[in-house]
Amino acid sequence: MNMVNIALPKGRLGETVYRSFKAAGYACPSIEEENRKLVFENPEAGVRYFWVKPSDVSIYVERGAADVGVAGKDILLEYRPDVYELADLNVGRCRMCVAAKADFHDDGARTLRVATKFPRIARGYYASLSRDIDVIKLNGSIELAPLLGLSDVIVDIVETGRTLAENGLEVKAEIVPVSARLIANKVSWKFKNDAIRRMARLLAENAAAQKEEQA
Ligand code: PRP
Repeated sequence: MNMVNIALPKGRLGETVYRSFKAAGYACPSIEEENRKLVFENPEAGVRYFWVKPSDVSIYVERGAADVGVAGKDILLEYRPDVYELADLNVGRCRMCVAAKADFHDDGARTLRVATKFPRIARGYYASLSRDIDVIKLNGSIELAPLLGLSDVIVDIVETGRTLAENGLEVKAEIVPVSARLIANKVSWKFKNDAIRRMARLLAENAAAQKEEQA
């Protein structure tokens, strides 16, 4: 049988995303068992899931190792993979923000030092303000940078705001809202169109129902 190969982001977001697939009719009982396997399939539902590092989902999908996947809008904006974006799953909601120490004010006098995992998003945002910046690319614990004087500000994901608050930082500007998106490989979209189209529709309906419940 022609299964749909799905790359899910490993970790907290992945578990939420899997619940969305389950609610949309794509359960895979073996994935719910505690183990360290990375591939799970349910031939009856026509799905095979892979757990991959969240920032790698779009690579698997772009190159066709997965037919579809779920990636945050932050990753799509940063890496611009050549894939179709099919649906907003309305989970993993957060915001891409500029944050700094509460007492920091950008007086524009010198090049702004910006620490981030998202250099393209940071450059695009500051280019739109015609503000010169020096990007310091980090891979995690971004909030440390302004505390240690490595940067003036950070561009990072804010979800609850706890990490900022507990480190004496605050949001200075919001750049873009972020949520999890269903993406598809362009060739798979052609050759597995019925199955992928149906999946996107069921997931979108499920997301809309959840949104209504939240309202
Ligand atoms: C993300 C982000 C912030 C934190 C925000 O980090 O980079 O550090 O979550 O969440 P909050 O507003 O709910 O506190 P992540 O857990 O992905 O780790 P890393 O960036 O340090 O790798």
